[in-house]
Amino acid sequence: MDLIASHISHRFGDLAVLDDVSFTVSAGEVVAIVGPSGCGKSTLLSILGGLLQPTSGAPELRGDPPADSFNPLTFVFQDFALLPWASVEENVEFPLLHTALSPTRRRALVDDALRRTGLTEFRTTYPKQLSGGMRQRVGISRALAVKPAILLMDEPLSALDSQTRELLMEDFVRLLADGSMGAVYVTHNLEEASRLADRIVVLSRRPGRIREVVSVPMTRAERGETAAREKLLAIQSQIWSLIRNEAIDAEREVQHA
Ligand SMILES: Nc1ncnc2c1ncn2[C@@H]1O[C@H](COP(=O)(O)OP(=O)(O)OP(=O)(O)O)[C@@H](O)[C@H]1O
Ligand SMILES: [Mg+2]
Repeated sequence: MDLIASHISHRFGDLAVLDDVSFTVSAGEVVAIVGPSGCGKSTLLSILGGLLQPTSGAPELRGDPPADSFNPLTFVFQDFALLPWASVEENVEFPLLHTALSPTRRRALVDDALRRTGLTEFRTTYPKQLSGGMRQRVGISRALAVKPAILLMDEPLSALDSQTRELLMEDFVRLLADGSMGAVYVTHNLEEASRLADRIVVLSRRPGRIREVVSVPMTRAERGETAAREKLLAIQSQIWSLIRNEAIDAEREVQHA
């Protein structure tokens, strides 16, 4: 199943936020969205996920979702969005409660999602007992439970310290390795974008327009190796040179607001 952003523009009242954004996320592909603060990245993700109707253009799904998918497009949030009163396994089971699945089948899906995120032994703990990294693993596990075709991730690691981020990036590389799941990955962090994405969509300052689409011509497994460091740094500096001046302007605007 492919996700196609087709000429998406959006305004909030007088504020033009996105301008004619088009790109395709093919099955199993990871597309990162980067751009200066306030350029419309989160708005674009909400539109792609069907939470927000764009002013013009539309997101489209082409092809069938995987047969066992309950929610082809599934969000992973920056602030994890866990239910504090529910245990880890109850959080992961939550999106399956409104399906017609039998308790046994639900349990099997929850077990599988917990195992893939290394949470099996934490299933009865509560979010407040866990570190930030483990909380986000619960958020990811909950997303995996519905067997998404494409994860929609808005700064999923930005609330975490750099070592935890590194570990979760390794988790993502593992989870994305078999190509059965794709992702749209919104981030400020160019290292995350260059480590995880097949292609990086660089947006301009608001109203966000596509400035460039940068491909990362290496497998994700190769990128973890020392030999890849220089290539990845070159990609990051190429993107930074595209957004640096606009990031400065965006930063000034935020401070004067
Ligand atoms: N519901 C809304 N109503 C009005 N304006 C909004 C709304 N949501 C976002 N905006 C504005 O639209 C612009 C784009 O916001 P958005 O959150 O999409 O940017 P972003 O690229 O995700 O920013 P950041 O990098 O800070 O996360 C901003 O100026 C924001 O203030
Ligand atoms: Mg945002």
